[in-house]
Amino acid sequence: MNVLAVLCVFAPLVMSQQVSDPTKVCLPQRFSGVAINLVTELAANFSMDFGRQKVAAENGTIRHVIDLAKNQGYTFDAQGTCKRFTLGLSSTWRQCLPSSAVFKNQLKAGLGSVRFISDLYEIPFGAKASTRILVSKESSYSLPYLRRDTFNGQLVLTLFANHKLGVSDPAIFNVPANC
Ligand SMILES: *[C@@H]1O[C@H](CO)[C@@H](O)[C@H](O)[C@H]1NC(C)=O
Ligand SMILES: *[C@@H]1O[C@H](CO)[C@@H](O)[C@H](O)[C@H]1NC(C)=O
Repeated sequence: MNVLAVLCVFAPLVMSQQVSDPTKVCLPQRFSGVAINLVTELAANFSMDFGRQKVAAENGTIRHVIDLAKNQGYTFDAQGTCKRFTLGLSSTWRQCLPSSAVFKNQLKAGLGSVRFISDLYEIPFGAKASTRILVSKESSYSLPYLRRDTFNGQLVLTLFANHKLGVSDPAIFNVPANC
């Protein structure tokens, strides 16, 4: 067998390990945890429900609700007063990575047989904006750990931790009709 034939046999195996279809990299339908803005050090409890198409975060003072279907954000202060806001890059979520996502790197952390394995993807949005997201590989879904959004020189860096499947209080997504 010549060298080329051997390469042809092995190349698809090697490729399929890492250059997988990003649209198959999906977050759970419903999950929650803690999100920490690594620049401001503000922490919030977040919940995501892709069936409801809603993402919400609260920190004891304010609550944010993002309606992904309506492409609209809402902020509630401690008195429950509601303000709408336009979604920016860092407030947009999708359950699965878009086909434009580019696999950058696989990272392993820890020693021993059970290692934390995560994949870094970049989602480009033109010349001045991009999202990088580090997701862990779980059995049937992926979980976000770090997300970095850059747009016009601004940077948002968020750490996600204490992941739990499900949403303990769906009221976190409530938006009154008069808002
Ligand atoms: C998140 O929720 C837990 C449990 O309800 C609470 O103890 C904690 O203070 C919350 N964290 C924030 C940042 O609001
Ligand atoms: C909640 O977040 C707001 C704005 O992001 C901040 O002003 C406020 O201090 C935070 N509250 C707590 C308890 O961290």
